[in-house]
Amino acid sequence: MKKIKALIFKCASCGHEEPKWLGRCPECGEWNTLAETAAGPRRAAAEGRAGRSGDAAGPFPLSSVDPSEGKRTGSGIDELDRVLGGGIMKRSAVLLGGEPGIGKSTLLLQAAAAALTQGRILYISGEESAGQIRMRADRLGLSPLDRIEICCTARLEDILPILDKVRPVLIMADSAQTLHTDEAGPAPGTVNQMKFCAYELISWVKEHDAALFLAAHVTKDGLIAGPKTLEHMVDTVLYFEQGGNPGAYGECRFLRAVKNRFGSVDELGIFTMGEQGLRPVADPSLLFLVRREGDSPPGIAIAAALEGSRSLLVEIQALTVPAKGSISRFFSGSIETGRVSRVAASLEKHLSLRLSDQDIYVNIAGGIRINEVGLELALAAALYSARTNIPLRSKTAITGELSLTGEVLPVRRLGVREKTAAGLGFSLFTAKDVKTAITGLFG
Ligand code: TYD
Ligand code: MG
Repeated sequence: MKKIKALIFKCASCGHEEPKWLGRCPECGEWNTLAETAAGPRRAAAEGRAGRSGDAAGPFPLSSVDPSEGKRTGSGIDELDRVLGGGIMKRSAVLLGGEPGIGKSTLLLQAAAAALTQGRILYISGEESAGQIRMRADRLGLSPLDRIEICCTARLEDILPILDKVRPVLIMADSAQTLHTDEAGPAPGTVNQMKFCAYELISWVKEHDAALFLAAHVTKDGLIAGPKTLEHMVDTVLYFEQGGNPGAYGECRFLRAVKNRFGSVDELGIFTMGEQGLRPVADPSLLFLVRREGDSPPGIAIAAALEGSRSLLVEIQALTVPAKGSISRFFSGSIETGRVSRVAASLEKHLSLRLSDQDIYVNIAGGIRINEVGLELALAAALYSARTNIPLRSKTAITGELSLTGEVLPVRRLGVREKTAAGLGFSLFTAKDVKTAITGLFG
């Protein structure tokens, strides 16, 4: 019988495989990048490295598995631990994405200095020189510096022997985009290169009981073709986002988990970026309130919202102006526009408040994005106040979810919200339906 030769054509840019040659890669759109490859043996070898081959793969009784595999150690930074789900998990790989300049390298260096791990800590930098990293460490006032070992290369062939020699328990790799290897095609900086190198580093930490943080640049337009392809390879994906600049507190930075095998993705880490780097904000309750002399202007309502396990008071600001087009439009960066339009529709229907001829702008002070049902009643109050030009009475924090029928549904963890409000001198307000609420607040 005639033997059929299995051919694989692999894209040198993104690693996509096709059974036949094509002029253009259907995955990444690059031209002339598909080349015949002997992918089989290399892939098998790589998969063997993941520590799941042979005896290690089992099967064995679940009772015989060492539960300390799931042990965590503190990163030394509470806000980071919170987002990770309670600390750094052994054998885990964490992708830290964010725009250039947001503070990824700073966070990795601060965490390297503060981590409560027993063992060596390796900071791999393909972006900055050892001198630059030292200058940053000094600027941040980090000490002691002896426990952080630096290696300034991004070439996998150089990194792997260092890992085998040093046996670090914590590895900071900065950044995924700079990693490269001779084995993953001739073009450096491609997605293929990044995936290949990240896979090797992740395999190494899984085999050696270490933990890996991998920084990755993400651009504003959301085109994260590169780091996005790493998301499924890692255990946890964190994104660092820019917040507003609430007065005396410096610039805000929010750390969110978008994937977490070891914890929830609801938690938010809050930092401010100042002269001495990132400072965790353990009690953010004042961060999203604007301090004013006297009463608030119309269009402002304070919501007692939940963000992860924390309760926050946030200032919702609304503005309504006659629509410039024939239909009303919603502009909201902090609260989903779908939610804003639903609450506006509810006010229109149940209170006969005309909003459909208005353009509606909504914001939360401090630039935080909140996606929690409990702020809907406060949003309704802010919109009502903006449209009618009647200010809300001060020191009132509002909570409640609005149903389409105009009823206010009870929210989770009312006690926690009440306590936060009381702590800041606010009384908590809720009602059984939107009509009673508006009468109670403005009547
Ligand atoms: P960096 O960690 O280099 O960002 P990334 O690695 O995400 O690109 O942070 C750079 C920014 O942070 C830069 O604009 C300077 C600022 N910064 C401070 O404001 N204070 C500090 O103490 C440090 C170290 C940086
Ligand atoms: Mg950096």
